[in-house]
This record gives sequence, structure tokens and C-alpha cells, in this order.
Amino acid sequence: MTDQVSPPIRLLDYRPPAWTITDVALVFELERESSVVEATLALRCDEPGSALRLDGEELELLAIALDGRPLAAEEFAHDATGLVVHATRGAAACTLHTVVRVKPAANTRLEGLYTSGSLLLTQCEAEGFRRITFFVDRPDVQARWRTTLRAERARYPVLLAGGDRVAERDLGDGRHEAEWHNPHPTPCYLFALAAGPMARVSKAITGADGRAIELNVWVEGDDAEPCRYALGAVERALRWDESRFGRCYDLGVFNVVAAQDFTMGAMENKGLNIFNARYILADERTATDADFMGIESVVGHEYFHNWSGNRVTLRDWFQLSLKEGLTVFRDQEFTADLHSRDLKRIDDVRLLRARQFAEDAGALAHPVRPAEYREINNFYTLTIYEKGAEIVRMLHSRLGEAAFRAGMDRYFADNDGRSATLEDFYAAHSAATGIDCTDMLAWYAQAGTPVLDVERSFDSSTGEYTLVLRQRPPANVPAAAPLPVPMRLALYDAAGHALPAPSHDAEAMPDGLLLRHATHTLRWRGLSSEPLPVLNRGFAAPIRLRMPMPPEERARIVQVESDGFARWDALQHLALDVLLARADEPVDGLGDVDAAENALSAAIGALLADTHAHPAFVAECLALPDFDTLADAVAVADPGALVAARERLSLALATVHRAALQARFDALRVEAAGGLDDAAMAARSLRHAALAWLSKVDGGAAARGLWDDARSMTERMAALRALLHVQAAGAAAAREAFAAEFADHALVTDKWLAVVATRPAAEALDDVEALVAGPCWNPTNPNRVRAIVGSLARLNPAAFHRGDGAGYRFVAAQVQSMDAINPQVAARLLGAFEGLPRWTAPARAAALAALAPLRSATLSRDVAELLGRLPG
Ligand code: PHE
Ligand code: ZN
Repeated sequence: MTDQVSPPIRLLDYRPPAWTITDVALVFELERESSVVEATLALRCDEPGSALRLDGEELELLAIALDGRPLAAEEFAHDATGLVVHATRGAAACTLHTVVRVKPAANTRLEGLYTSGSLLLTQCEAEGFRRITFFVDRPDVQARWRTTLRAERARYPVLLAGGDRVAERDLGDGRHEAEWHNPHPTPCYLFALAAGPMARVSKAITGADGRAIELNVWVEGDDAEPCRYALGAVERALRWDESRFGRCYDLGVFNVVAAQDFTMGAMENKGLNIFNARYILADERTATDADFMGIESVVGHEYFHNWSGNRVTLRDWFQLSLKEGLTVFRDQEFTADLHSRDLKRIDDVRLLRARQFAEDAGALAHPVRPAEYREINNFYTLTIYEKGAEIVRMLHSRLGEAAFRAGMDRYFADNDGRSATLEDFYAAHSAATGIDCTDMLAWYAQAGTPVLDVERSFDSSTGEYTLVLRQRPPANVPAAAPLPVPMRLALYDAAGHALPAPSHDAEAMPDGLLLRHATHTLRWRGLSSEPLPVLNRGFAAPIRLRMPMPPEERARIVQVESDGFARWDALQHLALDVLLARADEPVDGLGDVDAAENALSAAIGALLADTHAHPAFVAECLALPDFDTLADAVAVADPGALVAARERLSLALATVHRAALQARFDALRVEAAGGLDDAAMAARSLRHAALAWLSKVDGGAAARGLWDDARSMTERMAALRALLHVQAAGAAAAREAFAAEFADHALVTDKWLAVVATRPAAEALDDVEALVAGPCWNPTNPNRVRAIVGSLARLNPAAFHRGDGAGYRFVAAQVQSMDAINPQVAARLLGAFEGLPRWTAPARAAALAALAPLRSATLSRDVAELLGRLPG
């Protein structure tokens, strides 16, 4: 365990490295229990006279030499965090040679060199490379890499590293070696290797610039067929980046490896992406539609990093969102271009509002560019990724596609091969477009979600209509200054026609306005009746819009609006208002609650009856705002009351619409049989959304029908979830049969475990405790921990917030035991307590009591830092 009281690292303290590494040659003698790493580093001193300090953790130093001369013990100092070489003093350049031993099989943190099944793999972002060899482990040190892998051929027939393969040799004695070369200046967090028995699917293509490229997707074992879909996704991503951003691939080979044991989603290592197997392996027998969509999007994300992250990398970890926010924006656009733009926006905003807004309002809130951190692993958050992407999207809205593209071209041209800052990004866009957009940087500096209060008034005698928009700072950052907010809006007249643009005191942007001040006034004149306003169309800005609206108006937006996102949003707002009112929260402008619920119900009825509406859109509308969204909307959250209000409303709506739900469920059966085309997926999504409601009122009849009739994993999971969540007759038998059929398939096993852990009932905690005590439990596998414990902590408010505090105690105990195995996984579980400051007093007290034992335990830096930010 690391020290708990290390001082924070501060953005303001940034200094360029005194020593830089220009060339690296690594030789690995690979073996699972103990591997030997020989490193030859060409170093350059940029600050004459400064000591050479290298990072290194858990490395056994076997040999060290400077410029070919072995060093005596007094010529260097070695401690738990690294190495200082005194002997270099005064030199402008030198060559350092070290030999170290590491222990891959004992590495349960999954950072550095580790084993997953029969494979040897690496994970280096953010600071894992220092667990492989001594190095200046920071992203602004970029070197050229030569990597030689040596291993026993029988155990490690495939030897992969970053870059292009330049040689392969048999070493006799049953061993072989492969040599790889990466000519692009690359920081060490993008280093990777993978070795072991692997099979691949492969495709040779020609890049838009004429380069011959081999695309490979590898998996442990001898059956690579489940990698086919991912291989297709790699090619789609590559082609999309060529056409939409003009970016070509820059090596002769692009390798992707699927790993069963992987802490995060995937990693963009140069030329050798390593993925959590759940974002690679898929076929219709074992993967759901959501899995396929997730794979395409994550494959795209990692591929896009090759430019946004790798060719242009980060000056320091404070700039993390420079690569992550930008790359999420790029992967969102990829999915929107390939599938449905409206549906993609709905999905992304749902996640943003439910989870990122909550994060940004909770105890762990932090700016997109934090001012300080203790453990950078704690900053791979929704704020860095999703809010970061929203800021890039605002820039895109402000500039329009053509100017944004010019700004991106300039950014890549000016910073290629360099480590950049967010300032560099906005400077490039400003220079390329002549529009000074550096004011967007303010979005990175403060936490919290800004609020936009909208006041509307109509003077029927003059026909003048006014909207006053007032930006208020986030509740948790009361002193924050107003931020630039792009606004897209529309007004509809009584006939449902859009009105022309208003007179205003804001700045124009392509199809919208840029609000820069605390208050803006928009005016329309000569109207014969009060219009219907729709604000923040397309969710152009990540803000909380406060515009009290009676239910009839929200329902009318669903009818007249052309922006699909805004229609969905109007219905979500209406449902949110009803849910809050049912949980006894005050709701401005709602009026009578029963009438409001009727308006919601009528709107849902109309959508269910509309066979011309896009089925996937209707499905999105059936999904009520989730618990996190409700908890985020209130000042003090009573978890039990919110869970109950949501359960009651879905039951009431299911009861009223039972016949319509059944009709759509039945009618979509044929279309739902299709493969992975968007129409078949849309049919399944509506069918299964209908089933979730139907099963609350039909005793599980429809779910049993689907269980017997299921033609794909998507259908099987929908049926199983419905059966288990309402505990219908046949549920236990279905679960047993499913578990037995897929006992050898870890990813499918994770699916049924997550279904059990998310049953919306307090008793689901008992089931989860049984799972953790049973044969499926595997604490060294992050996917398994997430499926069981993470699902309960993050996706099951009924059990996590159980009245007796047992949910809190269970998760806190898991944090403590997981911390000794994988601190990153443990820290993420602890994040389930981020909303604590706004829970009701009894919930808060129970949670604090549950966390108390952690406060006196020896903890990793990851967990210690987060615990320090939670109220004590
Ligand atoms: N950089 C990875 C991504 O977002 C995420 C990651 C971070 C993976 C840290 C591993 C470790 O694409
Ligand atoms: Zn990323």
C-alpha cells in the first residue's frame, strides 16, 4: 500500500522535465512468475547540472550502468518510488542501462506487466510504466521505441508490441524473439506488449494515403471468430477518421488484443490497443445489441486516440480531457454519423444528466481540468470524459462543422509529435477561424453545472414576447462567473409553425446564439398569441435549464417539435415533474399532479399508438428518468421515497397501457428477429422496453413467452431480466438453466450476475451476498467485481440505500477488501457514496457509520484520496 498523506500534485507547479529520453531500447525475457526487463535509455539534459531522477515502483534492480560503465552503490540512490543517478552531474547527454526483475503473476493491480489467463499483458496509463522499468514516467517525455520480446515459443507463440514488427528470430532452445519499432515520438504511457497463445482475425487494407495496413484483432486461445465484429468496427473507424477528420493511420499494422482481466474499458497504446474483452468479443449467441453498440463505440474511441492523444499527446495529466473529452466527442460523432444522430444524443445526455451532473454536484466534484490531484487514476471520470466532450461539442456548435474542421486541422498540424495543453487546442481553433474562442477555457476551470433560469412574458396587447435568460452559478460553486453558453432554441405558434429568430443582445452563432453574460433578453414582436418555447435544443450546452412549464405545454412540444432530442427531453421533463411531485417535492408550474400524470400518460399512449414513430425513439421515451436523475433534481434526497415514486409511476403507466404495450410487443416480433441492422435493433429495443412494463402487470406471461421464443442473446437477456426482476413463476429455473449453459463463458456469466444484482428490491442485497460467497466470485477480475458489487452499488438504489444500512456496509466492506487487490476498482466502488452530502439525515448517518472502519484502515492512495474528499 502506498502512503496516504502524500502532498498533492499541482497544475501551477508544472515544470518541463530536466531530463528527456529520446530513444529507448527494451529487451524483455518474458515469463509469468518473473520477467526480466533490460532497458537502454538515451537521455538528454535540458537543465544543465540537474540530477537524473527516474520513476520506478516494485522493481528489483539487477544491474545498472552509465555510458557503458557499471555504477557503484554510492553513485545512485534507489528507494520505493525511483532512482536518482548522481553520476551524471554536468553531462548534457548520457546512456543509461538497467536490468530489473518484475513479477507479473503476482500483479493483481493490473498496472504494469501482468498476467490474464495464459497471456502476459501491460497497462501503463497513467503511471504504470514505472512498474515495468526505471523511466521518466510523464507524458511530456516522448521517445522512439525499439522493443524486443523473448520467450518460450510453446507458451508464448505470439509476441506483440507497439509499432511495426521489424524482425523475428528463433533462438534455439525452444525460445524465440520478435522485435518491434515505433518511429513516432511516444510517451511511455502508450507503451504496450502482449504475449501468449492467441488467435486473430485479420484484414489487409489500403489507407486513403496509399499506405498498406494490416488490421488484426487477437484473443487468447484458438478461436478468433468472436473478434469479427470488432475487426469490422476497426475498419469503419479508420475510414470515418479519414473522411470526417482527414486523419490517416500511420503504421503498417494496427493490433488489438482482447483481455479477460482489464480494469478499464480499453487502452489506446500506440499500434497495440489492449481491450477489456467485453468491448471486443461478440456474436449473436453471446452478445446483446447494447454490447455490439458498445464495441463499435469503444473500438472507435481507441482508434481515434491515434491522433487525439497519441500523435498529439498531453503536456501533463491535468490536460487529460484534452485527449479524453476530444476523443469522446469524436466517438460520439462516429456513432451519430453511422446510426441515428437523435438517438445517440438522447443516450449521451441521459448518461450525462444522470451520472455526470450528480458527480459534479457531489462530494467528488472537480473541474474538467483539476487544479490538483494526489492519484491521477481517480480522475478518469465522467467529468473529464463526458463533460469534456460537451465542451468540445459547444465549440463545434459555435464554429460550425467547416470552421471546426479547420481548427482541428490546425491543432493537429501545429502540435503533431508534441505534448500539448488545452490552451494549445483553443489557440489553434482561434487562429484557424479568426474567432477568439479561448473564453471556452473557463469551462475547464470550475466544477459544477451552471443553471439557466428562463423567465417568459407575453404582452397580448402589443404582441411582444420576451425571454429573459439568467445564468446562475452551480449550487456547489456559488462564486463562479458566467460561462459562454451556446443556445439553440425554437418558438412555435398556435399552428405549430416555427417563428423567425428574435431580436437579441447576444452573439450569433450558426443556428443559435452565444450567451456570454449573466443575463440576456430575447424579443419577438407582433405575435397574435403566446408561442411555445423550446430551449437548449439538441442539448447544445451542458446546463440545467429551469423553465417551469405546465404539462400541456410539455406534451405539445412532443407533438410539434422537429428536433428528436427536444421531443424526448420534453417528455422526460414532464415525467420528472410528476415523479418529483409524487415524492412530495415542490414543482413549479406543474399544477394538479393527477392532471399532470394524465397528460404524461396520454403522451405515452399517443407514442405507443403511433406506428410511424421510430420504435427506438418510443423506447427511449418509455424509460422514465432514473434514480440518479431524480436524486440530482432535489435539494435533499430521500432514497426510499424516490425509489418508491418511480416504482409506483411505472406500475400505474403499465396498468393503463397494458393493452397497447402487449400489442406493440406482439406486433414487433417478426421485425425483431432480424440481425444487427438498425431497424431490427430498434424493433427489439421497443419490444423490450414494453416488456419491462408489461411484466409488472402480467405476472411474467410475456417474458415467459419471450424466454421460450428467444432467437438472440438480446432477447434472452430481456426475458431473463423481466422474469428475475418481477420474480415471476419460472424465474429461478430460467436463471439456473442460463447460468449452467454459460458457466464457461465469463462475459455472459457477468450478464446474469448483473441482472440478479439489479433486481429493484431491498432483498437483492441478500442475493448479492450469496453470490460473493459462492463459486462465481472472482475478486481479481474487474468485470466480475463490477457485475456483482458495482451493479448493486451504482445501479440498484433499492438495495444499496436499504433502510437498515446493510447496503452501505456491504459496499464499504468490499471497498476495503478490494483495495488490497486492485485499488482502482476499489476507488470506483467508493464513488457510490459521492451523493452522500445530499442524502436525508438517516441515510447519511448510516453511510457515515458504514465508512467509519475504512477511516482507520491502511489504504491505497486511490481510496485514501477519495475518502478524504467524502464528508467525515
Ligand atoms: N485511456 C483509456 C481510454 O479512455 C482509458 C484508460 C485509462 C485505460 C487508464 C486504462 C487506464 O481510452
Ligand atoms: Zn480515451
